[in-house]
Amino acid sequence: MNRETKTLLDVDDLRVTFPTRTGVIEAVRGVSFSLGRERLGIVGESGSGKSQTGRAIMGVTPSQARISANKLAFDGIDLLRISPRERRALRGNRIAMILQDPKYSLDPVMSIGRQIVETLRTHERVSKAEARERALAMLEAVQIRDPKRVFDLHPHEVSGGMGQRAMIAMMLIAGPEMMIADEPTSALDVTVQLDVLGILDKLVSDRGMGLIFISHDLRLVSSFCDRVIVMYAGKVVEQLKASELGNAQHPYTRGLLNCMPKIGADRHPLPVLDRKPEWAA
Ligand SMILES: Nc1ncnc2c1ncn2[C@@H]1O[C@H](COP(=O)(O)OP(=O)(O)OP(=O)(O)O)[C@@H](O)[C@H]1O
Ligand SMILES: [Mg+2]
Repeated sequence: MNRETKTLLDVDDLRVTFPTRTGVIEAVRGVSFSLGRERLGIVGESGSGKSQTGRAIMGVTPSQARISANKLAFDGIDLLRISPRERRALRGNRIAMILQDPKYSLDPVMSIGRQIVETLRTHERVSKAEARERALAMLEAVQIRDPKRVFDLHPHEVSGGMGQRAMIAMMLIAGPEMMIADEPTSALDVTVQLDVLGILDKLVSDRGMGLIFISHDLRLVSSFCDRVIVMYAGKVVEQLKASELGNAQHPYTRGLLNCMPKIGADRHPLPVLDRKPEWAA
């Protein structure tokens, strides 16, 4: 099998539900796709189930969530049957996720540098000095300008965008085989955004990492990803090559495309996203 076509992740009929006092919320309703060593984008409006799909794969759903699937396999490992301990080991090592909100992924009482060093040292046998050097280099790679200073800061002492970059550094240092990036660049300004995308891109092309890239930004996804999944109300309504996103057929995807602001275009009237009940059926 060649590198590009090797399936890393196989998802078939994934469902995520939340029992609540007023009934069951179906956040993900039968999602199926597979991922090779490629960049797969997931787009869709807020609440369409993008993050819950990513979290279910990663195994970090809220405890009350119920997850089922015909198949949820990473590199042939059945993720729904392995023990929580095996799942954690995969998570720390072969699979990484950049969460939408970095506040919850960094430990508030540990300095940023120490968190990155400890992450590295649980995966690789490296000396303290080497781990520190590599952590500093990784902070620099995510465009933190003063890595030595930031190394010693705690998460609450840095800006949101810096916290996000620190988290990206922590996720990348272990060299995962699959990465789920949930809006990884939304808190960053445009130039840093491009740097981070460049890092992710290099990991896919040089190391053969598989990347799931969750984003609201259809323009970004169409230029950065290889393939795109469009989600609506917990389902996949369309799957297509990223380069063909502009010619999408599904009316929901067309609606999302029409809502994108065009630079220099007349700003009025504001476009309204059309939603038909049958798309969710
Ligand atoms: N803890 C929870 N309890 C109940 N419902 C939840 C919970 N977490 C998420 N949901 C529901 O799951 C659905 C999908 O949420 P999800 O976070 O996956 O959306 P999303 O596509 O990532 O949206 P966004 O673009 O805003 O990040 C939403 O309708 C949400 O209300
Ligand atoms: Mg989300």
